[in-house]
Amino acid sequence: MGVQACGDTGSGRLPASVDIAQQVARRFKTTELTGKNILITLGATQEPIDPIRYISNHSSGKMGMALVNRCIEMGARVTCVYAHISTALNDRATNIQALSADQMHQCVMAHIEQQAVFIAVAAVSDYRVKHPVSQKIKKSTTNLTLTLIPNKDILSDVCQLNNRPLCIGFAAETQHTLKNALNKLENKGCDVIIANDVSNAEIGFNHEDNQVIFISQKQQQALAKNSKANIADKLLKIFIKEFL
Ligand code: CTP
Repeated sequence: MGVQACGDTGSGRLPASVDIAQQVARRFKTTELTGKNILITLGATQEPIDPIRYISNHSSGKMGMALVNRCIEMGARVTCVYAHISTALNDRATNIQALSADQMHQCVMAHIEQQAVFIAVAAVSDYRVKHPVSQKIKKSTTNLTLTLIPNKDILSDVCQLNNRPLCIGFAAETQHTLKNALNKLENKGCDVIIANDVSNAEIGFNHEDNQVIFISQKQQQALAKNSKANIADKLLKIFIKEFL
């Protein structure tokens, strides 16, 4: 309310610049990631079999989205490349859907150049159907055989780029969690791997809580069971302290 530029008095008056600036500043809780571009993949990829069916997994995208939200609150510009998710998007990120592993690979490669950090949280299908068909496969009494062929590894491919961003991967494991995660850190060539025991029904896939181990060449830090939002916050703080 108040006097407007045209001389009228009433509602519609633009707030003072200082009030606008203060409101914008309040949307960023901290500034640790100000000026950083961060690309995060999340969700469960879907590999088509026919127009009705696909191969996928139980990932909800909640851990990835917790990282998207926290990175934004810390001041980062976030590109969120998402497959199938059961959680709300953050409209302050640049959101791009990429449902299959191949689409996600293309999308990440198209946007990776400007990124300071790449966080691969997506549960990417390791295989796709060699010949998806364009019409619904009809029921029959005989066995049906699908030939699966390997997908590209997005995280490994990003790690091999020249001038690559800092890379964080997630290792979803059902046994030998630490050993398998350490192997992934080496084999994929990333800076950090987050070991995630997805066999535990209380945490991981599609749960509100998680319990992980942050692993880099320098350190291993186990984070006790906590909400995915708190895990995201703690992981980012450890990462920022070591790498930024
Ligand atoms: N990842 C990826 N592209 C793939 C497969 C995995 O970018 N084609 C990334 C995931 O986003 C995750 C990490 O690699 O950050 C590990 O994924 P995970 O599913 O735990 O392991 P895989 O590499 O698929 O190996 P395995 O299935 O043998 O455990």
